[in-house]
Amino acid sequence: MDTNEIILAVVCAVLVVFSLTVALVVPKRNPDFPVGKMVAFFAVSIVLVGGMLTAVEVLAGEEEAEAAETTETVPPTEPAPPPETGGGETVAPPGGDAAAGKEVFTSAGCGGCHTLADAGAAGTIGPSLDETRPAFELVVDRVTNGLGGMPAFAGQLDEQQIQDVAAYVAGATSG
Ligand code: HEC
Repeated sequence: MDTNEIILAVVCAVLVVFSLTVALVVPKRNPDFPVGKMVAFFAVSIVLVGGMLTAVEVLAGEEEAEAAETTETVPPTEPAPPPETGGGETVAPPGGDAAAGKEVFTSAGCGGCHTLADAGAAGTIGPSLDETRPAFELVVDRVTNGLGGMPAFAGQLDEQQIQDVAAYVAGATSG
């Protein structure tokens, strides 16, 4: 119970007592309520109800302010740091490390199906990457999803490795 609630309770009590007095006591004592007193009764009623509403509003306002303060004290969730993209001394497209990608190309067996002079690969099942010179996005898509005789590597390579091999293939064939 803070000060506001006490004030509210008092205003409330006064309003109740006043209403009961007017409703029960006055008519008994004075059955034909004179017009002059009627006006006074309305004036007092309006003041009391007004006071009550003001008290409720002030109280509600303060509670809202308190609630807002409580919300503010909750620490904001830390934004996740941007994923590491791997440094590149080569002119690799963004998002992949070409040097790491060469390792991936060899270890994942891309060379068994593809020809890529830079990697010493001479596979002939898939198209020669030296000839098709695929763009970074195309390599990411093919390696992730596969197509026809090209297997999907999404389960075998993680996102970073796919980005790396794409950077390598795109970089090694672009010139
Ligand atoms: C089992 C054989 C096989 C392996 C292993 C394989 N590929 Fe392929 N790849 C294919 C075939 C077949 C296609 C042609 C798919 C089509 O377009 O129908 C292809 C298509 C592609 C293409 C699209 C070429 C173009 O220009 O259309 C890229 C890029 C590619 N592969 C990259 C890779 C990389 C990188 C790896 C290693 C992670 C890899 N492939 C492993 C068989 C293979």
